[in-house]
Amino acid sequence: GCGGSDSGSGDKGDDGTITLGFSQVGAESGWRTANTKSIQESAAAAGIKLQFSDAQGKQENQITALRSFITQKVDVIAFSPVVTSGWDAVLKEAKDAGIPVILTDRAVDSQDDSLYESFLGSDFKVEGQKAGEWLLKEYEGKSEPVNIVELQGTTGSAPAIDRQTGFGDAIKANPNFKIVKTQTGDFKRADGKTVMETFLQSTPDIDVLYAHNDDMGLGAIEAIEAAGKKPGTDIKIITVDAVKDGMTALADGKINFIVECSPLLGPQLMDIAKKVNAGEKVEKRILTEETTFTQEQAKTELPNRKY
Ligand code: AHR
Repeated sequence: GCGGSDSGSGDKGDDGTITLGFSQVGAESGWRTANTKSIQESAAAAGIKLQFSDAQGKQENQITALRSFITQKVDVIAFSPVVTSGWDAVLKEAKDAGIPVILTDRAVDSQDDSLYESFLGSDFKVEGQKAGEWLLKEYEGKSEPVNIVELQGTTGSAPAIDRQTGFGDAIKANPNFKIVKTQTGDFKRADGKTVMETFLQSTPDIDVLYAHNDDMGLGAIEAIEAAGKKPGTDIKIITVDAVKDGMTALADGKINFIVECSPLLGPQLMDIAKKVNAGEKVEKRILTEETTFTQEQAKTELPNRKY
């Protein structure tokens, strides 16, 4: 039995319930909404008490949330860092308080990897490479210049940095490929649309759009159609995520290729949370399994797509 009184919401109760503090990036994309749902549903299914906090895309809100989790003495902290840099101080505070931290979806650039127990998520660089490799195949044997515009994710975020690098590395193999414009659309549909409008105005001859997520690609499709061009035909489009709206546009021929990034991290996260709470050792890096989709594959997959 437990002799003490209930001294806080974060305490393990007599029943051993784990409290998990989770700081989410925000609700910027369909991917993020699906990720939040996965985490909330998996926590409920695992009998884990979830303290969920939405940072609305701001790092300072995430730092405030993490500090509040530390004050509440939650059992485990998990978060998806909006940007890679600036976490060392608060991670050290969690470590000093003896609260294990799990990075979910996005990485931090901290040199000291003892500041967190595990990092669960995709390899965003590989995703960028897959996008570039598809494009190399698409233009195989052709000698004309290929003008590419890029819609980047949130500036300073791991997926924006790595998807840009991975794609850039892959397309080096064809000297005809040129990224003529690159700008952030903050992973949002509305920003994808407005930035694509400016691309279309300044650059008449766009062959390819590479968007770091489906939502920005979907916003750009609206801009392309409004400019009287045919997305998927006049401008080839590659995106990342493979959420239902993206897959629908792919099946409809408006997107040409999607690299999957799975948002369904909840079940694995709860599993890791239970293990670190029990003091068990976990892998420092746990990679998500994902694939890619062509237009034909999207038609087959679409009826099964849950998010
Ligand atoms: O960190 C994952 C990325 O964040 C997704 O690819 C994007 O849609 C989301 O906003």
